[in-house]
Amino acid sequence: MPTRKEVKKVTTHVLQEMKQRGEKIAMLTAYDYTMAKIIDNAGIDVILVGDSASNVMAGHETTLPITLDQMIYHAGSVIRAIDRALVVVDLPFGSYQANSKEALNSAIRIMKESGAHAVKLEGGREIKESIERILTAGIPVMGHLGLTPQSIYKFGTYTVRAKEQDEAERLLEDAKLLEQYGCFALVVEKIPATLATKVSQSISVPVIGIGAGSGTDGQVLVTHDMLGMTHEFSPRFLRRYLNLYESMGNAFKQYITDVKSKDFPSDKEQY
Ligand code: KIV
Repeated sequence: MPTRKEVKKVTTHVLQEMKQRGEKIAMLTAYDYTMAKIIDNAGIDVILVGDSASNVMAGHETTLPITLDQMIYHAGSVIRAIDRALVVVDLPFGSYQANSKEALNSAIRIMKESGAHAVKLEGGREIKESIERILTAGIPVMGHLGLTPQSIYKFGTYTVRAKEQDEAERLLEDAKLLEQYGCFALVVEKIPATLATKVSQSISVPVIGIGAGSGTDGQVLVTHDMLGMTHEFSPRFLRRYLNLYESMGNAFKQYITDVKSKDFPSDKEQY
């Protein structure tokens, strides 16, 4: 039976302390065991099992089709790989919007069946009851404001949110409310950097940005995007650390060539 490495685990409390001492929080997505193991070993603070799995893993155009069962499958795979990171799992579209009882049941299923450490929900004041009910079961909740991909058909585009003053004011109010309801952290997605900085400075819980500038308490990216595996998605905020689309493609081409030319396997690569 393999033993787990003895490491200091990242908890919601640790994230709070990081904000207090000004240490930035690094978060990435993962949906499977192998990727999660590499990311956790690298020392990431938070792994998000995002509903972006719907796009990245399943090839859907939006995050709406992914189901609760599918999220639990991805979350369980990630949890089995982790020694240190805090693992947060998205409640998928349709698993929490109907009422707070359904939200609680979905959150309990994620925690119980995958072993995750926290859940994330998209929205502000309109999901107050759901957040509060999930918290009564002792499940930590991360909020998500700004561009909320589960509402794509309401907004119609993936452009920057809260550029106008009234929307910016509402977002800031929502951030303060999410803190009051008891969220341990928030994600703010694709909003002006000045607004994101103001949000981070106005609340005491960590604010993690994506496309929200450098003034937040941490950053999150979709791992497949930052590794350059998805080459058709190129928003301004995305920094690519590798071009895996090209290097993996080259490796696959070389393998095909080697098989067809009978170069692989060699004498040393057989029994
Ligand atoms: O689903 C996801 O990957 C997310 C991040 C983009 C924050 O919610």
